[in-house]
Order: sequence, then C-alpha cells, then structure tokens
Amino acid sequence: MTVSLKGPVTPQVIAETARKFGTPVYLYDEREIISKCRQMLAMPNAFGLQVRYAMKANSSRALLRIIAGEGLNLDLSSLNEGRRAFRAGIPYSRMMLTSQEVPCGKDRQDLEAMIQGGMTYTVCSIRQLETLADVASRNRVPLAVRVNPGVGAGESVTRNTGDKYSSFGIHLANIQKALDLAQSRGLVFKQVHVHIGSGGDPKLWRENIDRELDILERFFPDADTINFGGGFKESRMPDETAADIQELGRYARKKLESFHLKTGRELKMAVEPGTFIVANAGYLIAGVIDEKWSGPGGFEFIILDAGMESNTRPLLYGSRHPFYVVSREGALLSSEFDLNAMDVELDYRVVVGRCCESGDSQSLDYQGHIIPRKMADPSVGDYVVIGGTGAYCSAMSLSNYNSFPKAPEVLLGKDGSLKLIRSGQTLDQMLQNEMDEGQ
Ligand SMILES: Cc1ncc(COP(=O)(O)O)c(C=O)c1O
Repeated sequence: MTVSLKGPVTPQVIAETARKFGTPVYLYDEREIISKCRQMLAMPNAFGLQVRYAMKANSSRALLRIIAGEGLNLDLSSLNEGRRAFRAGIPYSRMMLTSQEVPCGKDRQDLEAMIQGGMTYTVCSIRQLETLADVASRNRVPLAVRVNPGVGAGESVTRNTGDKYSSFGIHLANIQKALDLAQSRGLVFKQVHVHIGSGGDPKLWRENIDRELDILERFFPDADTINFGGGFKESRMPDETAADIQELGRYARKKLESFHLKTGRELKMAVEPGTFIVANAGYLIAGVIDEKWSGPGGFEFIILDAGMESNTRPLLYGSRHPFYVVSREGALLSSEFDLNAMDVELDYRVVVGRCCESGDSQSLDYQGHIIPRKMADPSVGDYVVIGGTGAYCSAMSLSNYNSFPKAPEVLLGKDGSLKLIRSGQTLDQMLQNEMDEGQ
C-alpha cells in the first residue's frame, strides 16, 4: 500500500505541525505504525511466530513503546539499543541482541545482566562465541546463531547483508568451527538466524527460506526456531510494490510444514521487520528557504531547511522518497501520488538541503547524479514534505554535519493529537561534550 497525504496526515496537519514545532520536523503517524504491527503479527506461519521490531530503524522511545504495546518484541543491534529500550520500560526478556560488537569490560558485565534478565543473544562470530561462552554456560542459556548464507539481497549493494561481501554472521565456511567450539563448552544453538539484507526483492527473501532450512537441517539439530530476519520491502514511491506479508507467510508455512513432514521437527518462525513497521509512518517536514536556477539546460532548485543531515538515504543508497508540496496555509499543491489531479502548474525540480555538500539532494541516483522530479513550484515559507521517512532517517541522521541540530520528532496520535516525542537539539546540547585543550 502506498502512502499519500491522505488519511490522518492531511496537509492541514502538516501545516499545523510545522507551525507548532517549527521546521524541519519529523512527524510519525501512530495509526500507520499500529496497522503495520498488526499486519506482521498476522503473518501466516506453521508452528508459532515471533515478531521482533528491528529498533535500529527508529529507536524513538515513544515509537518503541507503541510497538512493544502492540505485542512485538525487539531486535537489537547494539548493547546501547538494549539499554535504551530498557529505559523505555521494555524488559530484557523481550529483546534479542544480534550485533557486531565484541563486548568486554563493563559491556560484558552488562550483557551478562541482560542475559540473566532473559535477553536472547545471537552469536555472530567465532570471537563472540569464544568471548561469551562462559557467560552462556554459567547462566545455562541457549544461544541463537547468525549464519551468513552466501546469498543476499538489498535495495542497494550496500544493503545486502547475506553474501561474501558482507561481514555479518558466521559464514558457512566457519560453521563447523563454531559448532565444535559450542559443543566443547556444552552450548546449544536453539535459534538459527539469517538476515539477507534490507529492501530487496521479496522473491529472494522467499528463496532464502529453503536455503536456511537446509542449513538448519544440516548443522543445527537442537534448533527449535528459524529466524528469517527482516528486510521486507516497503513501497515508498507510487511505482513500488511492497512485500506481500500474507503471501510470504503462506509460502513459509508450506515450507515449514514440509520440513516437519520430512524431519519430524516443528520449527517456530521468527521475523525482524524494521522498515516495514515504520517507514511509511514517517514524514520529514521541511521549510522552503530559497530557490535557484542553474541557467539554460540546468535545474530549478528548491532549497529546504532539511537535507542529507536529516534524511541521508538518497545520498547513501540512491533511495527514492516521495515529495509533497504543501502551502504554508495547509493546501496540498502537489503529491507524487496524484500528479494528474493537481490543477497547479507542475515542472521538474530538484530538492536540495542546506549543507555545504553537492550531494545534499533528496533525489539522486545510485551514482549520485541529481534526478529532477515533477512537482509544484513552492514559495519560500511553504513546505516540502518528504514521505517514507519513518525508518533509517532520524535514526541514521548525520550527527550535526555543518552544525545543524537534530530535528524534533512529533507523533500524530491515534486520537488525532500532535505530541512532541523528542525535542529538537539545542546548540548547547550539541556542544556540551566539548572542552578546551588541556582541561
Ligand atoms: C539483523 C537485522 N535484522 C533486521 C533488520 C531490519 O531490516 P529492515 O529494516 O529492512 O526490515 C536489519 C537491518 O539491517 C538487520 O541487520
């Protein structure tokens, strides 16, 4: 399903949010988040389903509480994400950590406390296993293991996490070594985890099911759960198609049932969506601060008070996000979902931010070339809303590049109210850890 400025996020809500909280500002639609959580929880499965929200996509406290309140558990990428979620009131027993970190010192002690609190730990490297084997045996906890299956898929090359170019998980070539080490320490792997990448073709996600079941059957006799990771494609743009969760679930169910017939093993299924839960619930509202024309054969630039520091995805991945132009009074001037319906004059324009960086555009191809997009001609003081910005935008924002502060975050509650859920960063906060030399 695609989003547009319809439903609860009306152009009037955009203008009201901007007036109340200033621009740039991230706006999240609680109803959309809840609806996505429910879609994931309804994913067909054979012998039970665990849905963990990959909180790296957006770790805002209020969103974590909404998502956990819907019954999703959490997938963590770092110890700090665990600490953060715990502070948001979510117990460790609802978390699973799958990280590149090799915790030592205080981190190791904290990790042990988290494991004692019920957190599941996924081993992602031989060194992690060596480092944490005694923690796992002392606490008699079963482990999960992340396997790199050798085949991945992502929205861009840099989002593929499942092939030989990716350092994630234990590669098949090292699995036996991990098994021998685990056995020598009396440890068992109860959950086998694969995450092949983000935003790739759902067909490859489906094909991976066979590959992962095969790996589980060959190497992991104690596993009772198979974790297919996240990576469900979301459609941010009008020409994109989102992954069909029902269809993927039915396919997985069929495969898990056949596996049961063949092996007698009833595997629970786990998934870890990040993007799918929050991407289309988010809007980055930016104010138009200037405009420029680069001459005949050049471009019409619209300059915003937000850009690569608030949404890095176009520069990082060549990702596309839809644009809406909203007047300062709250009228929709253009939407990429409805270009034909607009009665204002539309033309191809280039949306850029205010960073001193020529890649600071919100519409680039994979090589960094600017791609003009059709839209209305806003005036200074109007708004350009960048859609599909709920995942990996605020969370991945560049920290204070050009000394621009982190934008505030606002929730459009299911009751229709606008609530500030994170204030904008102040200059004092940005500078608070700096000190003069010799101090
Ligand atoms: C281990 C793991 N699980 C889940 C996810 C979530 O992926 P997505 O946001 O594409 O659903 C990621 C993202 O990179 C990941 O690394």
